[in-house]
Amino acid sequence: LKPLVSSLIMCCTFLYELLNCSAVFTQQPTDLVVVAGQPVTLPCSIPGYNGMVLWLRDGMALGVNRDLSGYPRYDIIGDHRKGEYHLLIQRTEIQDDAVFECQAIQAAIRSRPAHLTVFVAPDNPVIVGAPVVSLQAGDQLNLTCHADSAKPAASIIWIRNGLVLNGAVYSKTLLRDGKRESTVSTLYLLPHNIESGQQITCRASNKAAPNGKDATVTIDIQHPPIVNLTVERQPVLEGSVVKFHCAAKANPPVIYYRWAKGGYVIPDVSGDTYEALVDYSFFTEPVSCEVTNILGNTNITRNVDVYFGPRMGAEPQSLQVDQGSDAVFNCAWTGNPSLTIVWMKRGSGVVLSNKNTLTLKGVRQEDAGKYVCRAVVPRVGVGEKEVSLTVNGPPTISSTQTQQALYGERGQIKCFIHSSPPPDRIAWSWKETVLESGTSGRYTVETVSTEEGVISTLTMSNIVPADFQTIYNCTAWNSFGSDTEIIRLKEQETLRLAVIVGVAVGAFLALSILLGTLSAFCCTRFHTSLKGGIQVEIVHKDHDAAQESEEHMNITQMMVSEQFDTASNTDVLCPRLSGFSGMYSL
Ligand SMILES: *[C@@H]1O[C@H](CO)[C@@H](O)[C@H](O)[C@H]1NC(C)=O
Ligand SMILES: *[C@@H]1O[C@H](CO)[C@@H](O)[C@H](O)[C@H]1NC(C)=O
Ligand SMILES: *[C@@H]1O[C@H](CO)[C@@H](O)[C@H](O)[C@H]1NC(C)=O
Ligand SMILES: *[C@@H]1O[C@H](CO)[C@@H](O)[C@H](O)[C@H]1NC(C)=O
Repeated sequence: LKPLVSSLIMCCTFLYELLNCSAVFTQQPTDLVVVAGQPVTLPCSIPGYNGMVLWLRDGMALGVNRDLSGYPRYDIIGDHRKGEYHLLIQRTEIQDDAVFECQAIQAAIRSRPAHLTVFVAPDNPVIVGAPVVSLQAGDQLNLTCHADSAKPAASIIWIRNGLVLNGAVYSKTLLRDGKRESTVSTLYLLPHNIESGQQITCRASNKAAPNGKDATVTIDIQHPPIVNLTVERQPVLEGSVVKFHCAAKANPPVIYYRWAKGGYVIPDVSGDTYEALVDYSFFTEPVSCEVTNILGNTNITRNVDVYFGPRMGAEPQSLQVDQGSDAVFNCAWTGNPSLTIVWMKRGSGVVLSNKNTLTLKGVRQEDAGKYVCRAVVPRVGVGEKEVSLTVNGPPTISSTQTQQALYGERGQIKCFIHSSPPPDRIAWSWKETVLESGTSGRYTVETVSTEEGVISTLTMSNIVPADFQTIYNCTAWNSFGSDTEIIRLKEQETLRLAVIVGVAVGAFLALSILLGTLSAFCCTRFHTSLKGGIQVEIVHKDHDAAQESEEHMNITQMMVSEQFDTASNTDVLCPRLSGFSGMYSL
């Protein structure tokens, strides 16, 4: 038995040695790179070997000989008789990214380990927020793009208008399989560097996708309305039609327009245009257009260059000042284009001031009067305002020093007194008589106030020759002092002469008519009696008138004082006179 056993061992040893010597790899797998999805063949040839051939992936046996039933994408191909055991991997996947080894068990040989590298293209890149990224004007834009599950990790570039944008920041994460990676890239764009409507592309590429895969986003910059308010046709004259146009750019679109003038909303105007008949107020009260979208509103205001003639701002006030003090008048005008102001005294061409203010220093009584403030807007208009200056001082009397009356009739002496403040007292004195008011014998004193001043009238009935011999002293007092006028009464010849001449002419006419029929004696008598008749008639008439006017005087004075209260600028003397004559005709 012993020799049998030993010969069996010898035989086995021989066989083993035989196999060991002859079985060698003529082809072994080498390191390979393949793009996922592509087939790959790992070669393994052991000519003459008939034993078990084993493929291992990362140290794990895949199956014996040609049976790789657990791996549907795997096949052993090649001519078996030539000892070919090539491993064909159809449609490579990431799992195939491993170390492969081919082993001939009986021959106890193994191939060198071969690294199969499988490249995987990234998934389609995704930009966060795509396809449209909205942001508000002035905001920084952060764009994030991720390209997942790539091997090697995808690299990401950003492209705008065909140009690569720099400055993106990226990071990579390894997937659970330990092989693929995801890449995230963030692009920071400053507000000034972006425009609405722009398209930005994220391109991810790696060795498996050398041309890259793209994702594109459109930028939508939202902003409150940007408004441009234009005024058509400027400058314009008052009364012209002006069109306002409110041009607005807004994203999202405009919801509504609102118009205002001088802070007040204009009703019934809701479009982007507003047409108005402009007046001076458009110069000072600006027109505004307010445009609203969901992000907010924008309000633009425009003044209109309306040309208008002077308009009174502050009215100058008439003044009453004591002599020696200052008088200051103020008159404010507005006008467009700029106006010039001229202060003058009425009746004098001298320009006193070109400012709003007229200052008269240390006024004297002769400065009293009317002052005019005139404003001129060249080629547009003129405005004027009159004020009066009253100077408080002693009275001044301006009367003709010789007044006339008819002998035997009612006569009057008038004393015109200018006085501010009004006279406290007015007295007439002649001979030994002093009369301030009322009636004393044949004399009556009446005082009337008019716009021009105070008129004191001394009336004497039935003038006697002595009345022509004396002097009449009219004196007026006020708190500042007094003034006196000495007036003489002269016999009025003119009327008497006129009567004589008139009668003479009449007589001459009569004489002419009666020529040749009457004697010279007759003529003389007729003349005398006619003259006397006319005289009587005149006296009679005057007498009636005097009575009437005395009654009437009180009424007239009432009327005058009423008119003083109400009217300020009208000439009071006129209505008085017309009232008088109306009365007379009754
Ligand atoms: C964009 O990124 C910057 C820097 O990381 C950050 O300060 C900013 O808040 C981000 N802006 C937005 C809109 O996400
Ligand atoms: C506003 O409109 C006018 C006229 O259309 C134009 O000349 C001007 O440049 C515009 N202004 C702005 C700020 O858009
Ligand atoms: C625009 O603003 C002005 C000033 O604040 C205001 O007076 C006006 O009323 C506003 N316009 C509108 C249409 O609200
Ligand atoms: C006139 O009258 C006033 C007051 O009665 C008197 O002071 C003055 O001396 C008189 N003047 C003359 C010239 O008589």
